[in-house]
Amino acid sequence: MIEYCMKFLELLNQTGLIAAHRGARSIAPENTLIALKKSLGKCDFIEIDVQLSRDGAAIVMHDDTLERTTNVTEIERFKSRKPYRVCDFTLEELRALDYGSWFYKDKNHKEPLLTLRGSLEFIKENNIFLNIEIKDMSGVLGDDVAVEAVVKEIKESDAQELVLLSSFRHEYLKLAKEKLPDVPTAALVEGKHPHRLIKYLMELGASGYTLNDELVDKQTVMMLREAGFFVGVYTVNDSARAKELFSMGVNCIFSDSLEKRGSFL
Ligand code: G3P
Ligand code: MG
Repeated sequence: MIEYCMKFLELLNQTGLIAAHRGARSIAPENTLIALKKSLGKCDFIEIDVQLSRDGAAIVMHDDTLERTTNVTEIERFKSRKPYRVCDFTLEELRALDYGSWFYKDKNHKEPLLTLRGSLEFIKENNIFLNIEIKDMSGVLGDDVAVEAVVKEIKESDAQELVLLSSFRHEYLKLAKEKLPDVPTAALVEGKHPHRLIKYLMELGASGYTLNDELVDKQTVMMLREAGFFVGVYTVNDSARAKELFSMGVNCIFSDSLEKRGSFL
């Protein structure tokens, strides 16, 4: 595996790390600036989900559609826009929505759209690492367009040293490695491991492997660690399970429950 002199990678090679999954998701609306702010001091790094608006802006949002985490269904001019896919809305339209009141159940508690640029400014100001998960947009966009939009933001923000790129769409990781060779990447998986896992990760140029909790077994964790890859597990909110995973050698867990951090170790 290629050796990178990156600070984030040095951190990721430690164990007992907690990633704030979508920000401090249990106490703030996920993937918003307030969720990032509330993560500070409670995690080792923050994870966000990124996708592109119709006009190509990199924005922070988990779901493919806007219904769950915005007030889109309440806005008259958007009534005809079902199923409210993120990729069908322009940046200007996305900025018109509220990302807070669904969470607080209080119509006056609004939160603005968070862009990737806004997230990068935040991590630079606060000197915290950020895992940018690039959502799979292969149904609507070419791979290069998707990756280039994210890479451009990282370069323009000069945030290369503070970010990790991950995706379930592994083609993105290959492209990202070509464009930003010094930025570490992690392959995200759920359900089943790729065939010949170590060789597969080496060919991708990935530094790490992030898998869903149900797929974890000690032997695979050991094999990955011995081969020099860091191992992340999502989503872990139970203290006993967190301890068990760390004792297997897992480097980091992605958790919604940052308030339990002390009991995870
Ligand atoms: O990056 C780990 C985790 O965020 C992957 O799942 O669906 O929460 O983005 P999801
Ligand atoms: Mg994610």
